[in-house]
Amino acid sequence: MCGIVGILGKAAVATQVVDALKRLEYRGYDSAGVATLENGRLTRCRAEGKLRNLELKLSEAPLTGAIGIGHTRWATHGRPNEVNAHPHATAKLAVVHNGIIENFRELKRELEAKGVVFETETDTEVVAQLVTDALQEGRTPLEAVGTTLPRLRGAFALAFLFEGEADQLIGARHGAPLAIGHGDGEMYLGSDALALAPFTDQVTYLEDGDWAVLTRAGVTIRDAGGHPVERPRQTIPTGSFIASKGNHRHFMAKEIYEQPEVVGRTIAHYVDFAAGRACPPDLPFSFRDLRRLSISACGTAYYAGLVAKYWFERLARLPVEIDVASEFRYREAPLDPGELTIVVSQSGETADTLASLRYAKSQGQHVLSIVNVTTSTIARESGALAPTLAGPEIGVASTKAFTCQLAVLLSLAIAAGRQRGVLDEAEERRLVDALVGVPGLMSEALRGEAEIELLAREIAKAKDVLYLGRGTSFPLALEGALKLKEISYIHAEGYAAGELKHGPIALIDDAMPVIVIAPSDAVFEKTVSNMQEVAARGGRILLVTDRRGAAEAAMDTFGTVVMPDCDPVVSPLVYAVAIQLLAYHTAVFMGKDVDQPRNLAKSVTVE
Ligand code: M6R
Repeated sequence: MCGIVGILGKAAVATQVVDALKRLEYRGYDSAGVATLENGRLTRCRAEGKLRNLELKLSEAPLTGAIGIGHTRWATHGRPNEVNAHPHATAKLAVVHNGIIENFRELKRELEAKGVVFETETDTEVVAQLVTDALQEGRTPLEAVGTTLPRLRGAFALAFLFEGEADQLIGARHGAPLAIGHGDGEMYLGSDALALAPFTDQVTYLEDGDWAVLTRAGVTIRDAGGHPVERPRQTIPTGSFIASKGNHRHFMAKEIYEQPEVVGRTIAHYVDFAAGRACPPDLPFSFRDLRRLSISACGTAYYAGLVAKYWFERLARLPVEIDVASEFRYREAPLDPGELTIVVSQSGETADTLASLRYAKSQGQHVLSIVNVTTSTIARESGALAPTLAGPEIGVASTKAFTCQLAVLLSLAIAAGRQRGVLDEAEERRLVDALVGVPGLMSEALRGEAEIELLAREIAKAKDVLYLGRGTSFPLALEGALKLKEISYIHAEGYAAGELKHGPIALIDDAMPVIVIAPSDAVFEKTVSNMQEVAARGGRILLVTDRRGAAEAAMDTFGTVVMPDCDPVVSPLVYAVAIQLLAYHTAVFMGKDVDQPRNLAKSVTVE
């Protein structure tokens, strides 16, 4: 979603602002802009489309101010054109905004009644005009922001630059993240620490409701009530900043290839190899005492949770209820106090997942978050944290975060099974051994890339694709379809193989590839029957299975991807590699923007 940057520098900052915005590109955007102060006067430059368009305009008419704010916009209110691009400005100030001001219509009507004329279709301009109105009443910038913030409803982060104030930026957060960077006689604002990495590793995260006044000498932070507060300064480990593609053409490819390493690192964090035991983090509850587990997440993280439902129910006999966070947060599910809700999120900033967490807490539940960004809001608000050690994930299509989430969830399910007396020591060891073998199996799976690349050329011809799977391969079918549609824009659906006859079989013809994910597990025979139903109707099958499955299926397919043999319990982690590569190569072959697909944002911080 939108990215925010602010710099109080010693020389012209526009180039630095754009460089920092580039580090936020992964979040998704459709226009960008910068504003600086030159001799106390606001100057601004905005462009539709990618940052290179903004750079081109800046090269023709450079901005020279030593204080500035910048923004990448992911459109919510108003078209993604230059007029609606941020910063929005009045004669008194410029502002950039991430999030949604929910009551903007009512505020706009109030301002229009006072004679204010709006230039854009955005909710953000209302903020600019409200603060301007307060300034015109004689308030200082600090007072004007202080009186405006309580009037705004919704989730937002804001950064303000004021005409005539060459040593002051004001930032505010309410529901959307904002970090402050500390430099040497310079100060920074950013949507995340990654944006500020070239300038500083000293970062302070604002808490919800906080707002901050930055000068080159430092920062003063106030809470929602306007009271000065101290927030800790953290040194961000340099490893969290590594965001280069290495030898790969795209971040997505790099992240797919990193999986053996990062999944291995994550597994090492959660199991004791030598003892053959799963070691969960310190938890303020015991799985033994739980009667029900709720899981809430969005997108790929939700599919990780759906795989985990099979694991927790089978290995720990713990009933699991799972829902997408956008539904969970509003459906007022009865949650018993003392039970557990697990939220899963790569970014830790997804608005709906955060709201689910808060709902579960309000019901007296324990909340355990499985999060990749450990400085995120979800991580900080959870009672217990189980980090995934995937490192920064830049590609919008989630890959390594997904498999690391699976690794954490499986280790927790094993620990739960042991605590609840469902698994004995030998079974725990067998499962831990299977988990420990995953990185090696992933490396083996990656060796099948060339073959998958050829099959992707066939998929690229399709308008629609169906993914089928049973058991834990069903959520993987959903994930495969999501991966394909988000980066190739081919319409794809994932189905439980057994549901085929209940509707989707009507779609089968020789133009729609059917991708069947079927390791030779307990439900393999059933899935083969479903494949036969597809073949009998002239459907074209791409089978993803192991050697035994390939031999036993003996089916006429247009392609069979043979995966390494593995314990069925870990097949979702290993088979994920194949479906990621298939989506990746299809999109590359079609010439799509793999790392920044149209309309998508990496971190969805609005509802
Ligand atoms: O940061 P989160 O894990 O909370 O994000 C959830 C979804 O937005 C995310 O998984 C999305 O579906 C990805 N683009 C999928 O590749």
